Amino acid sequence: MDATGLPPSTLSALIALVRKHTGIAMTERKSVLLERRLRPRVQALKLNSYQAYLDVVERDRAEVPHFIDLVTTNDTLFFRTQQVWDYIEQEFLPQWWRAHPGKQLKVWSAAASSGEELYSMAMLCEEFQAAHPEFSYQIHATDISQQILALARDGQYGGRSVERIQATHPDWVRKYFRPSANGLRVVDALKRHVELAQHNLMLPLKSAKQFDLVFLRNVLIYFDQEHQHTILQQARLSMAPHAVMIVGESESISGRDTAYRFDRPMIYTME
Ligand SMILES: C[S@@+](CC[C@H](N)C(=O)[O-])C[C@H]1O[C@@H](n2cnc3c(N)ncnc32)[C@H](O)[C@@H]1O
Repeated sequence: MDATGLPPSTLSALIALVRKHTGIAMTERKSVLLERRLRPRVQALKLNSYQAYLDVVERDRAEVPHFIDLVTTNDTLFFRTQQVWDYIEQEFLPQWWRAHPGKQLKVWSAAASSGEELYSMAMLCEEFQAAHPEFSYQIHATDISQQILALARDGQYGGRSVERIQATHPDWVRKYFRPSANGLRVVDALKRHVELAQHNLMLPLKSAKQFDLVFLRNVLIYFDQEHQHTILQQARLSMAPHAVMIVGESESISGRDTAYRFDRPMIYTME
């Protein structure tokens, strides 16, 4: 395959295909990124052009999950944006528990990526449970990428993820992780509270649960306004009355959907 980049017509078709399968809005400016991500797959399939690869994705449903894995961005960290976790620990959990004694807390990590977000939440819940033995919780975690969900399921971390949590929460590393071949693996005591499922945020969630806390962080930025609106509408069908929704640092849903009431930056409550 020659290395002359994506021809304009292929790039347009590729952007349309990304939108069709994920809802993500990409522009021509992502050309180099897309080419870099698709190249190894095109070569592995011994195809002679990117267009030939798009034809495979259109024709063969089995290729779609690989395509989705390639075009999604999965950056994440344990305890990403510390102020969110301070809010959950110091305000959300005590207030929720006071208002719902005896009930099980239901959390949805809606673009879970490799799982750092959901295991951060599980650690906070474990700590809260140590002080409130009647407290119980369940975390439903979803992502459109099956490959990234497999990593979340495995719960094994290395590199930047491990360096960061070792620096910020050394005591919890000792308590909630065990050494593994690649770095650290979360203990089963956390995994026991987690269920993972593939899900496209553009569609209704298969679980009938009503969640008390929803993480929809660092994913809305990939969508245009129309699709953000769709995602927010779908998400609120799965939220309990007065549930809390948390978005990313660079995201705001003010004015997008009136069912979500602004509480403070990144935090919204259902009416
Ligand atoms: C940047 S990560 C955010 C991870 C985590 N929420 C955080 O804030 O650290 C974005 C995730 O959204 C997922 N994603 C992208 N489009 C999606 C869609 N249509 N439905 C569900 N997940 C999607 C990607 O696969 C990726 O894992």
